[in-house]
Amino acid sequence: MKIAMLGSGFIARFYADSLVGHRRLDKLHAVYSRDIKKAKQFAQDYNLPVYSDSMYDVVNHPEVDVVVISLPNDLHLAAVQACAKAGKHVLCTKPLGRTAHEAKQMLDAVEAAGVMGGYLEDLCYTPKFNKSLASVKAGALGRVLWAKSREAHPGPHSNWFWDKEQSGGGAIVDLGCHCIEIARSYIGKQVRPVEVMCWAATQVHPIDAEDNAIGMVKYANGAIGQFEVSWCFRGGMDLRDEVMGTEGTIWINNFMRTGFDMFSTGKGGGYVAEKAESSSGWLFPVGDEVNELGYNHMFTDMFEAIDGHREPTETFYDGYVVNAIIDAAYASAKSGAWEKVVIDDWRGSNDTQIASDFAVYNEQYYLIKEEILPHGQKKLLLKDKTTGEVVVRDM
Ligand SMILES: NC(=O)c1ccc[n+]([C@@H]2O[C@H](COP(=O)([O-])OP(=O)(O)OC[C@H]3O[C@@H](n4cnc5c(N)ncnc54)[C@H](O)[C@@H]3O)[C@@H](O)[C@H]2O)c1
Repeated sequence: MKIAMLGSGFIARFYADSLVGHRRLDKLHAVYSRDIKKAKQFAQDYNLPVYSDSMYDVVNHPEVDVVVISLPNDLHLAAVQACAKAGKHVLCTKPLGRTAHEAKQMLDAVEAAGVMGGYLEDLCYTPKFNKSLASVKAGALGRVLWAKSREAHPGPHSNWFWDKEQSGGGAIVDLGCHCIEIARSYIGKQVRPVEVMCWAATQVHPIDAEDNAIGMVKYANGAIGQFEVSWCFRGGMDLRDEVMGTEGTIWINNFMRTGFDMFSTGKGGGYVAEKAESSSGWLFPVGDEVNELGYNHMFTDMFEAIDGHREPTETFYDGYVVNAIIDAAYASAKSGAWEKVVIDDWRGSNDTQIASDFAVYNEQYYLIKEEILPHGQKKLLLKDKTTGEVVVRDM
């Protein structure tokens, strides 16, 4: 397939590094940038035959099969609509929309046009995520009770992120979109997100949007998704996930302290990793960021989905659900109360049964737990099914 890139900034270059790397079958062919000099530079850097400062010309270029959107959040809707009109498959970066209303229009546009809408949620494609999700799906953690994801860094690199009108919000819409989809994937995408409770504040930067937030997403089966986001964190990019299930636990550190520590006096300077604040002292470089951040696996899934006439793992529908959760988070941050997640077009399960399956010890008792104490004594804690009495038994 021949690919067009819309935008030539930060994420466009990360995506391009992935698309031109490792002798890929699909070829980056064209780029649009509103600044023709930047379009030309990008085309030169990645050896592309087509560049233009007209989005229309690039999207409608007869050789282009797939369009990748790497534009600021307020431009996603118009770009998706242009691709749908041109009958081109479209892969859009996160967040899909600034609101669920925008995201729904994008979903409707690709579905009406019969083109694929791939949601470029890279953190749901990292090698660690892929492996841990496979373990969760295989039952290694039992029933997932709680999935938590954290993304925190010192704040984004371009002016438009800090303008609430263009970005749609602050750290919640920018970083929370990743965390929400990570937790939702572990809990199960078929499980309906029901309500959100969120605290948000503007603590450090002179902006209208939030630069710090924490939220809980309640799912229909009783599981909780938690997101922690910040544009105030100092020291790099903190990307960590935790999953807690009835049979096990996963802790993932995605970016710092991954087993690659380096000390430098600062001689040589240079790039360490995304959002690293220093190139001296103890440093946490990332071996292959494009791979560790999931871009390679993500694009492979996207192009294989187009070829195979199937949905990719991350679709525009997923982007829409994430936006609906974000809308509820903003409503909750404002009201201070749990707020409903409004999804007009829910396609998952309508089961509202809160899952609970108590371990049975015998006919009379549930098993609460067994434990070996430091001096070797073994204890059983049991609950009588009829009287409710909790008893202890030595083993
Ligand atoms: N991990 C990720 O998935 C990830 C990381 C960073 C950014 N993003 C997303 O990528 C998108 C772009 O972010 P970025 O970091 O590349 O930003 P950026 O500012 O580095 O680049 C934005 C690009 O859009 C162009 N642009 C800006 N305003 C424009 C306008 N009015 N008309 C036409 N073009 C315009 C800029 O010239 C630039 O080429 C955002 O939606 C952001 O959320 C995703």
